[in-house]
Amino acid sequence: MDISGSSAIVVGGTGGLGEATVRRLHAAGAKVVVADVADDKGKELAAELGIRYVHTDATSEESVQAAIDEAQSLGPLRISVDTHGGPASGGRLVGKDGSPLALDGFRTTIEFYLTAVFNVLRLSAAAIAKQEPLDEGSRGVIVNTASIAAYEGQIGQLPYAAAKGGVVGMTLVAARDLSPLGIRVVTIAPGTFNTPAYGKAADRLEAHWSTQVPHPKRMGQSPEYAQLAQSIIENDYLNGEVIRLDGALRFPPK
Ligand SMILES: NC(=O)c1ccc[n+]([C@@H]2O[C@H](COP(=O)([O-])OP(=O)(O)OC[C@H]3O[C@@H](n4cnc5c(N)ncnc54)[C@H](O)[C@@H]3O)[C@@H](O)[C@H]2O)c1
Repeated sequence: MDISGSSAIVVGGTGGLGEATVRRLHAAGAKVVVADVADDKGKELAAELGIRYVHTDATSEESVQAAIDEAQSLGPLRISVDTHGGPASGGRLVGKDGSPLALDGFRTTIEFYLTAVFNVLRLSAAAIAKQEPLDEGSRGVIVNTASIAAYEGQIGQLPYAAAKGGVVGMTLVAARDLSPLGIRVVTIAPGTFNTPAYGKAADRLEAHWSTQVPHPKRMGQSPEYAQLAQSIIENDYLNGEVIRLDGALRFPPK
């Protein structure tokens, strides 16, 4: 699908993977809406590129719909990329003191990393479904973000791995559900990417992962995620798949 001329939303668009995707889609000619909760960064990025920022909480129906409406006002919405983050809880299933992992933390992690992804997916799909079909009846494409933790969750990562496993599980059925509407759904499962999500730990993690990732021996860089997102959007035959982007990394138990 041609990116140029369509509007696009990038949820989590001021984060590491999101910002790189915003820049890439903007450069490719999409009318991009940056949708995030980080208002200062979002406004700064939008001003730099001359695009729109909409304060968007991925967990909220009204909020995501407002971002979609803004994108639709700029041109036909055919592209939705979800790279949002949020609070994630972890810990061993049974702690050293014998207590079970907290239910609240599990619920919060699922809310941000699975339910909110479903929220963006369903609202994006309904909006893209209203567009005029292009070649072969195609209307648009939705890109989700999982993690290789969906397959190799590490010790202490159970809630996050469960949420990401849910995103992986939604991918094929969403593509099947949306096939009569000509909407593709593809999920990227990143390995370990050097983004602001790691804060001050980034240098330590870069050093650690540079010994663990088979090749190239480093963490992923956000533009590499954005490059894959663009490729997914442009390749009409990619659908219903989860693509690992991980330098052949397989997470060890810890
Ligand atoms: N960085 C990695 O190594 C890595 C690996 C695998 C998967 N992922 C996944 O990729 C996604 C993006 O990761 P990142 O490293 O770019 O993180 P990041 O922290 O750099 O970006 C996340 C963005 O989401 C925004 N956000 C937080 N809560 C939100 C909400 N309720 N609604 C909308 N936006 C919200 C933040 O403001 C931030 O801009 C996450 O889902 C993460 O789990 C990242």
